[in-house]
Amino acid sequence: MNSTRSKVPTDEIASLRLRLEEAEETLRAIRAGEVDALMGTGRQGKKVFSLAGAEHAYRMLIEAMHEGALTLTTDKMILYANQCFARMVKCPLEQVTGGSFRRFLSAADGATLRAHMKQAAQTGVKIQLLLHAADGSKLPVQISIRPLANEGGKNKIIGMVVTDLTESRRTEEMLRALTQRVVQVQEAERGQVALELHDNITQLLCAILVRSQTLADQLSTHDSPAQQEALKLRDLLGHTAEEVECITRNLRPGVLELLGLDAVLRAASTEFTSRTGVVVTLTGVALAARLPPDTELALYRILQEALKNVQKHAHAQQVSVHLARLGNTVQLLIKDDGVGFNTERQPAKRKGSSRLGLLGMHERAAYVGGTLTVKSVRRSGTEIEVRILLPSGNPAVN
Ligand SMILES: Nc1ncnc2c1ncn2[C@@H]1O[C@H](COP(=O)(O)OP(=O)(O)OP(=O)(O)O)[C@@H](O)[C@H]1O
Ligand SMILES: [Mg+2]
Repeated sequence: MNSTRSKVPTDEIASLRLRLEEAEETLRAIRAGEVDALMGTGRQGKKVFSLAGAEHAYRMLIEAMHEGALTLTTDKMILYANQCFARMVKCPLEQVTGGSFRRFLSAADGATLRAHMKQAAQTGVKIQLLLHAADGSKLPVQISIRPLANEGGKNKIIGMVVTDLTESRRTEEMLRALTQRVVQVQEAERGQVALELHDNITQLLCAILVRSQTLADQLSTHDSPAQQEALKLRDLLGHTAEEVECITRNLRPGVLELLGLDAVLRAASTEFTSRTGVVVTLTGVALAARLPPDTELALYRILQEALKNVQKHAHAQQVSVHLARLGNTVQLLIKDDGVGFNTERQPAKRKGSSRLGLLGMHERAAYVGGTLTVKSVRRSGTEIEVRILLPSGNPAVN
């Protein structure tokens, strides 16, 4: 044994020691995640082995993102955060990492997140909340949470992407303001056209109607064909005057201001039935007190648009309209038993359809602080529900 050891030259031992040190250093670098790939020489020549922990490219990608990216434990301790997130919360990165995500949330948002965490740890979830930055400012964000890894089956790691919603909220607000302005201008223009129709055309038609009656009276019964013609002309004029009145009413329901929503909904339903043959049943309509004028107008316009859709698309036999007051909320329900449609999918655009009707209804409801929901089942029909919260102080009725 001793004789063998003495045969190994000292410089070979030094070289082996050096190689061992090099190997140890390589292992340490691999463990520390400093190595992306290794090159080895095998039977088929040189080969590159990329390491499972080679995260360099991913880290670069995550740091270059315009979204905040984090990894957390399920009890919301931040394991890793990118610079973008640190900028969002206006806090140095070293103070973010290792801390709790909860410190950037209000108590209410913290509770919301907690409520979603279980689902987030299983399937992932998206929620919108306000981030409280270190300087006291607040940032509207959407956070998308997904489970990433399950360390030893116990400690789940959660991945989170935080998107700043400031810009999209601003755009949404601008769009909303613009749509509301469009609604206001549309109402004003409709009012103007209705006034001109009423003051000029209807008055003129009535004058011609009276003249045609006089003409018919003056024509002798001996000239019966001429008299018949004059009478037909009178009837035609009468019919035209009624049509113009109907258009005027639709453009600006003067009766709405005068007689209230109840009367106008009834008139619109009766007119719809006589024009289309589709039966409209009204229930619960008589409210004991008037609603704010904007709310009455919005509800009337929504009914008008819904009935237009029934006529254009539904092929319905029956429509039921229900107006009621539930505490401080007014509810309008419009149901038809028509063909229904898929509310999730945009149907192919048909000729003559601008597809602004439903959007307009939503905007009308939002304009007066309400919400509109559309439920539709193919071959069963469509239901539109509007709920508007009345301003406090509006007397409770019903
Ligand atoms: N009551 C309904 N029954 C069946 N389908 C409907 C009904 N209401 C709406 N739809 C469907 O939803 C689509 C969108 O309706 P929307 O009122 O927004 O647009 P439109 O009626 O096509 O066009 P516009 O109202 O701008 O003239 C319609 O094209 C139709 O396919
Ligand atoms: Mg429509």
